[in-house]
Amino acid sequence: MIYQQLAERLHALIRDQIYPVGSALPGVRRLSEQHGVSVSTAVSACQELEKRGVLEARPRSGFYVRQLPALREPPRLSLVSRSPRAVSGQDRVLRLVQAVNDPGIVNLGAAVPNPELMPTAAIERAFRTVLREQRRRCVGYEFPPGALELRTQISRRLAGLQCAVLPEDVLITNSCQESITIALKLLTRPGDTVALESPTYYGLLQVIESLGLKALEIPTDPVTGISLEALEQALERWPIAACVLIPNFSNPLGVCLSDQRKQDVLRLLSDFRVPLVEDDIYGDLPLTGPRPRPIKSWDVDGLVYYCGSSSKSLSAGLRVGWLVPGSIKDNDRSRADYLQYMNTVAVSTPSQLALAHYLQNGHYERYLRKMCAQLAMAVARMTDRVTQLFPPQTRVSRPAGGFVLWVELPGNVDTTALMEQALALGVSFAPGALFSASGKYTHCLRLNCAVHWDARTERALVALAGLL
Ligand SMILES: Cc1ncc(COP(=O)(O)O)c(C=O)c1O
Repeated sequence: MIYQQLAERLHALIRDQIYPVGSALPGVRRLSEQHGVSVSTAVSACQELEKRGVLEARPRSGFYVRQLPALREPPRLSLVSRSPRAVSGQDRVLRLVQAVNDPGIVNLGAAVPNPELMPTAAIERAFRTVLREQRRRCVGYEFPPGALELRTQISRRLAGLQCAVLPEDVLITNSCQESITIALKLLTRPGDTVALESPTYYGLLQVIESLGLKALEIPTDPVTGISLEALEQALERWPIAACVLIPNFSNPLGVCLSDQRKQDVLRLLSDFRVPLVEDDIYGDLPLTGPRPRPIKSWDVDGLVYYCGSSSKSLSAGLRVGWLVPGSIKDNDRSRADYLQYMNTVAVSTPSQLALAHYLQNGHYERYLRKMCAQLAMAVARMTDRVTQLFPPQTRVSRPAGGFVLWVELPGNVDTTALMEQALALGVSFAPGALFSASGKYTHCLRLNCAVHWDARTERALVALAGLL
């Protein structure tokens, strides 16, 4: 068949990196001209390569190369300390985040997307509009629970994800970090134990440290997510005050729990009456397929305290997040407002109104489609380069969403010690130890894939690989 011959030819070009991982194939019309076949033959050849997993079709965008030359094994199941621990030593993180604003350093460390990926012009227009149309309101406080326009937009988005959340259920915060902090203040007292995935987002460990809590790390599979068996054993053994999870594209593993596992987690926590703080900050960023449902969408008992923000999907600079408190205690909703007020009095009025205006004008979904396609390419490219440059036996995560890679290195390398050397060479990464309360993962590191990719980035990655 002619289409199969064309498929073989295209596959060979992909193997030879004429079309590297993450790149778009020419459109089918162009392919038909180049290879002297009909458009329908070109379409069939691309579909054949899609079936083999070599290409990925993106709606209204075309076919993209997805097969990696030799996919590395995913990292191993984490083996963690089985008892609650106080958190310390997280202040090292400042060195990492400060590197983000250093123009001399290629930021592969903090999970901050390259601004080129963000709709900066549309955000600017939104600010201009609200500053012009609501000039007086913009110079005043927008006290908790925050601007009604924004709460309405958040509740609409959540309704689209099958969460029955009304505008009056939503509290606007300064960030997802603040939402998690308020949720944990509602649910815990100093000395209490909080169960978490391991490895987990270091900011969460910092909240635990600042509130004087203890972290109980639950082993987490890099492909299927938190071990339900280990979580159940922990619930039986320890008095756990709350569980914090990132069910959609966890940081750093990029795992998305299946709908079944999400419901199993909720059932298990419900059996023990343990509330869940759900961090859904990456939920809008699937690398393929539809936006997954949050666990909140199955919550009928008010067990889930839902946290989100615009930081990863739209703009970290807005400093706007949201919390939908559960109802473990009757007054949790009003206490959440007061805790936000006590924390910072209010959230920036122009930021709240600009975000509401941006979401209202309906361009967010279209922008997200483009953003996710670009992130998929960025993750594929970084995976490809790490596979080629890092030592053999290196294990690499296969994120289903978000834009970070978790890398497990062979041997006794200590990535915390390596960080200073890397910074001196002009490249940052996040050392693995930051993602654990019990000093695990010293041989791991996390890479931010959403970087501007050019010769300098390539050199930085080669320099980092040289250190390993
Ligand atoms: C999983 C996770 N949650 C929360 C945050 C904090 O986001 P925000 O800027 O909204 O506080 C981050 C940022 O890296 C994150 O990765």
